[in-house]
Amino acid sequence: MSKRKMLFVFPMPALLLVAIMLCLCCSQLSCKRKSMEVKAKMSIQEQSFGQTPDGHKVKLYTLTNSNGLKARIMTYGATVVSLEVPDRNGKLGDITLGYDDLDGYVKNNPYFGAIVGRYGNRIAKGRFTLDGTTYQLATNNGENHLHGGIKGFDKVVWDAEPVKQKDAVGVKLTYLSKDGEEGYPGNLKCSVTYTLTNDDELKLNYEAETDKATVINLTHHSYFNLAGQGKGDILGHELMINADKFTPIDNGLIPTGQLQTVKGTPMDFTKPCAIGAHINDDFEQLKFGLGYDHNWVLNKKGQELTLAARVYEPNSGRVLEIYTTEPGIQFYSGNFLDGTITGKQGKVYEHRYGFCLETQHYPDSPNKPNFPSTILRPGQIYQTTTIHKFSAK
Ligand code: GLA
Repeated sequence: MSKRKMLFVFPMPALLLVAIMLCLCCSQLSCKRKSMEVKAKMSIQEQSFGQTPDGHKVKLYTLTNSNGLKARIMTYGATVVSLEVPDRNGKLGDITLGYDDLDGYVKNNPYFGAIVGRYGNRIAKGRFTLDGTTYQLATNNGENHLHGGIKGFDKVVWDAEPVKQKDAVGVKLTYLSKDGEEGYPGNLKCSVTYTLTNDDELKLNYEAETDKATVINLTHHSYFNLAGQGKGDILGHELMINADKFTPIDNGLIPTGQLQTVKGTPMDFTKPCAIGAHINDDFEQLKFGLGYDHNWVLNKKGQELTLAARVYEPNSGRVLEIYTTEPGIQFYSGNFLDGTITGKQGKVYEHRYGFCLETQHYPDSPNKPNFPSTILRPGQIYQTTTIHKFSAK
């Protein structure tokens, strides 16, 4: 081979090498730029979400964290309207049930994404006695009171202000529930602050104060489907609940007052178990609840923030972990969903297309002296925290 030819042959791979190295450098640079862009994406946007039939303007806040997770929260019911989190391939999907517009929420809402109060869950016959006075609340679930009554906190418009932190964006919602509302005593000033952190957590901080002794049990009522909203039932999700006991109910879903061990029953989620594995077992409690609709007694000593539940959806790889300062968690397997609701993006919500994990004090505590107290007195500050942490595996 002549020298000339050699010279002609060798520069080609050399050039190729230089080109490859240049490409690598550029792609690294653009990667850096991309991650800077992503970081810069952390934002709070405010927009109108329409008006209630009685003329209240509703706002919608879109929170985006530095990893691109997105929570949309509206002031009607302090409601999570959508929650976009990544699957194991990084693909975002909306994992909460709900409606595309305000109208859906106003017309027919089984508490999709809402804050429920003044008392989340049931109070038997809507009645309780506090400091010698008997209070009669609105009854809206047969003879019982459920989720704050006829017009609970899920159906009122809250005030809102954006919250900016170094590693989180959020919105603080406040509401004044007047003395006598739905039968409850005391003017109750309450707030719920949602923050979406750069650790991929949706954090809820609840606070309240009253001017008269009252009862309070605020919780959050998102219906989750980690495969994506409207994408099938939740029976294949694997659930762990950090609880050795639950509070058995009667056929009106009111606790009997006992604490029962989960051991050897379909209520045992101490180890991860598919929600559908035992849901149709011949077990009286499941008959009463028409599936799971019970309160679990979390394994904990006091009011420390502890892991309450973990849910894993095998197809998407999405994982939801719930941490709370509360003593209990209601696991509801979407038993009343029956295909009559068409939700976001035209998706029909069939039986058990979503599940709720509502951190809370036990149902009917105002009538159960052996349950942790839900009484709030003037001068005391009600303060609870629940964290929803998202990841994928
Ligand atoms: C709660 C209750 C259920 C049901 C749903 C809303 O989770 O425990 O029985 O009322 O809310 O449909």
